Amino acid sequence: MFNKINSFPEGFLWGGATAANQIEGAYLADGKGLTTIDLMPKGSKRNEVAMGNLNSFEPEGEEVYPSHEAIDFYHRYKEDIALFSEMGFKSFRMSISWSRIFPNGDDLTPNEAGLQFYDNVFDELLKYNIEPIVTICHFDLPVNLAKTYGGWKNRAMISLFEKYSKTLFERYKTKVKYWMTFNEINMLLHLPYTGAGIIFEEGENKQQVLYQAAHHELVASALAVKACHEIIPNAMICCMLAAGNVYPYSSNPEDYWAVMEMERESYLLIDVQSKGEYPGYAKRFFIENGIDLQITSDDLEILQKYTVDYIGFSYYSSRCTSVDPEVLKNYTDGNVFGSVLNPYLETSDWGWTIDPKGLRITCNQIHERYNKPLFIVENGLGAQDTLLKDDTIEDDYRIKYLDLHFAEIAEAIKDGVDIIGYTSWGPIDLVSNGTGEMKKRYGFIYVDKHNDGTGTLRRIKKKSFFWYKDIIAENGSKYFE
Ligand code: BG6
Repeated sequence: MFNKINSFPEGFLWGGATAANQIEGAYLADGKGLTTIDLMPKGSKRNEVAMGNLNSFEPEGEEVYPSHEAIDFYHRYKEDIALFSEMGFKSFRMSISWSRIFPNGDDLTPNEAGLQFYDNVFDELLKYNIEPIVTICHFDLPVNLAKTYGGWKNRAMISLFEKYSKTLFERYKTKVKYWMTFNEINMLLHLPYTGAGIIFEEGENKQQVLYQAAHHELVASALAVKACHEIIPNAMICCMLAAGNVYPYSSNPEDYWAVMEMERESYLLIDVQSKGEYPGYAKRFFIENGIDLQITSDDLEILQKYTVDYIGFSYYSSRCTSVDPEVLKNYTDGNVFGSVLNPYLETSDWGWTIDPKGLRITCNQIHERYNKPLFIVENGLGAQDTLLKDDTIEDDYRIKYLDLHFAEIAEAIKDGVDIIGYTSWGPIDLVSNGTGEMKKRYGFIYVDKHNDGTGTLRRIKKKSFFWYKDIIAENGSKYFE
């Protein structure tokens, strides 16, 4: 009656994921404008800037701004894509830098040189039959939009984003079938400048500002879904969630309720993008916290009509929570979201909990909540690598991490979860979003570039390069043996 699922789906989109500001460099080339991330220095100030507590609009001489050169993908994309092809990539997730297309965000006409750059990259990918998966906005806004408009606080951003997205759909309609609107939309609640170009003013009600900005992004995202369907009828467009299931530290019902609240905070915006309306728990939360959102009846109709086709998400860690103040003292905030240390799990060198089983749980949870295809668009281990004298890198720790996670993805597929692809984060070493470091490496390809900005930018294959190549060649068959 029922057939056992015994392989990754045919055509599974194995690949890797990146973001413009973390790889491209060439930060002012060919008419590109400055982005918000171009003004985020590496080092101690970075987090305060990311949280919207510190204005960084005036670059300071002594600071290092890692996005300015990044790994120079802008000039080396052909070499990098050839390496992805050698690994057998079926897909490559990348984002478009808004300020290459509209340098100030509100320009009347787009910058042709910027549009042409992405044409060139897509052509190169398609030459190797690599499917481009495109994020319209991965954290970087034209800085003018943050300075002049206050970022996503301002409703005017909706139509600017709509114009930007339509420009992309029209231009790339024959080349790109998989789109996503905002990278990790829920991140704006935690890193308001990174996620929405927000800098708080003295005395502002932060929650009011954040959820209003989120509402603007939601409406903009829905309008992009509408435009995408109208302009590219065979395309699929998704939302993107920073995911990760939460465990209760104990069997205390209050701990379990704390879990639900934490998970709901993550899912709230995706609930709207996927189901088309604010859930009841969100309405209650707004009322009880004095959050009074400006929402028009047109907004509600747009949200309801233009829901996403699939769910993209990142998964690095699970979390754990408790209501016990003693337990809460044992906390790691390595990952942006923070978590009570889970006694059953290890953490990475950067304090991120490592939990392969959590990925299976997360896949099942999202599947049951939305019943739409899923795409795991980020996952991986940020670790320090050592380049040995013979130009090799023995990154067995990365292979182990991925191996354990792939086994759990296979379990989720056997559970009946519809997963269309997997793109590991940073298939080539890139700038860390959180810390601005190069030392925190995710890649299968090593890039000779260091925290202080030195290095030749030479690309070197790691041991994991060959391992991932084999996995893709066999479509992950070992996980079904
Ligand atoms: C995700 C982001 O949150 O995590 C990426 O979408 C980011 O941009 C990735 O790079 C890993 O985080 P980090 O801080 O290690 O770069």
